[in-house]
Amino acid sequence: RILILDFGSQYTQLIARRVREVGVYSEIRAFDMSEREIREFEPRGIILAGGPESVTTGTSPRAPDVVFTLGVPVLGICYGMQTMAEQLGGEVETSPLHEFGYAQVKVQGKSALLHDIKDHVDHDGGALLDVWMSHGDKVKRMPAGFELLASTDSCPIAGMYCEERDFYGVQFHPEVTHTLQGKRIFEHFVLELCGCEVLWTAANIVEDAVRKVREQVGGDKVLLGLSGGVDSSVVAALLHRAIGTQLTCVFVDNGLLRKNEGDQVMDMFAKNMGVKVIRADAEALFLGKLEGADEPEQKRKIIGNTFIEVFDREAHKLADVRWLAQGTIYPDVIESAAAKTGKAHVIKSHHNVGGLPEDMQFELVEPLRELFKDEVRQIGLELGLPYDMVYRHPFPGPGLGVRILGEVRKEYADILREADAIFIEELHAAGWYHKTSQAFAVFLPVKSVGVVGDGRRYEWVIALRAVETVDFMTARWAHLPYELLAKVSSRIINEIAGVSRVTYDVSSKPPATIEWE
Ligand code: XMP
Repeated sequence: RILILDFGSQYTQLIARRVREVGVYSEIRAFDMSEREIREFEPRGIILAGGPESVTTGTSPRAPDVVFTLGVPVLGICYGMQTMAEQLGGEVETSPLHEFGYAQVKVQGKSALLHDIKDHVDHDGGALLDVWMSHGDKVKRMPAGFELLASTDSCPIAGMYCEERDFYGVQFHPEVTHTLQGKRIFEHFVLELCGCEVLWTAANIVEDAVRKVREQVGGDKVLLGLSGGVDSSVVAALLHRAIGTQLTCVFVDNGLLRKNEGDQVMDMFAKNMGVKVIRADAEALFLGKLEGADEPEQKRKIIGNTFIEVFDREAHKLADVRWLAQGTIYPDVIESAAAKTGKAHVIKSHHNVGGLPEDMQFELVEPLRELFKDEVRQIGLELGLPYDMVYRHPFPGPGLGVRILGEVRKEYADILREADAIFIEELHAAGWYHKTSQAFAVFLPVKSVGVVGDGRRYEWVIALRAVETVDFMTARWAHLPYELLAKVSSRIINEIAGVSRVTYDVSSKPPATIEWE
């Protein structure tokens, strides 16, 4: 396995993903990991990631010395290369010019890292690579024993290597997709230089997780809150495979789910897979508590607390459950660790509605803790979950509760469910569903005038929202074809009594959030 030391770059998670895509397990740790921990980790190779600080300040973070004495290959990326250069006796300078964006580097020498890789050939037959650069500082003098690996006009030392010790440094970012040959660079490092085997595959991940869960829980009973979302569904399928009937799922129907969602979840898990699922039908309770509440945060709180109340009640009906399973995934783990130490520069705010009571006396089973979302999806498929479920858009914990603006009423929820179903159905039919990251309808409690035949209608408004995003922190409104919007609009107005107007939301995030509340 590969150890990635983090210096706070926003790209560090991408490095871990690229290494895993090659088929090798990798883990991100903070740069100040102790020597003992590093030795215990037994890395086959180490990657020093980028970071926002400047090596030249003297107070900025350094890699632990053991990284360079352990005898394993080391790859420094951006800041990682600079600190490698500085720590091994080279020199780094702050340049007044910041370089950010595409660059073409010329491959130098005959290194094991960049051999046989090229995007273009220059006039004297040399290999050129299209890469992504993002840096202020650069290496001015390489440490003794290093040779030039790559260069550009503005950054003469864009890469360096010491063949004898298998140390490599690149100023550019092979982990971002703009660096076209990034994957091959990681393959060379991880497979050829570090000698790792391809063992991190969906089948192996499942097998390994099943074994670990069995070891962890033994013959005890496990409880899982199943929402129908990707993570909890994959946990359910995985635990079912690992421990069968020792698992009980509780599925809370809060009356704010999408059309037929409750039945679909029950069909898939209880009927088809034979998972024990308790369905708690709590629509009346949720809607009763939401009566009169019109402020978004207040609604979220009510929905969150009511969820806990219902879940707790169901859990108490079960005898001797010792473990609670949760669908925590690797980015959650990294983010909360980074938030605690204050080392990350960008911290995502968590909306954890559906969080569980603090006083529940359970121990946690978190079988997805080491996995990225794309890995969770892959093992979902491996476990036999349908593609459409595994690649479903995310759905917020408070559900339609935050898509009905202001006060939530059953009448509104019913209209919204129908409108949303039509929108999603048409997106699928037009091949647009998987081109968008999230799409849904919003109920606006305002009345608008329309005409049908000779009659005048005075009814509700539905807004459609579809966005494209990678991380849900920023998003672009999806440029859906007009014909598709026209079809959705006419179907909604014609098929749903109570809607007289449909609008399309053309706001991007920021400043608008993805949800309307
Ligand atoms: P915003 O609206 O903040 O949404 O741009 C970003 C992503 O988070 C989801 N979201 C939520 N998820 N509970 C959740 O579990 C919430 O209260 C919540 N609010 C927003 C939203 O659907 C989008 O994917």
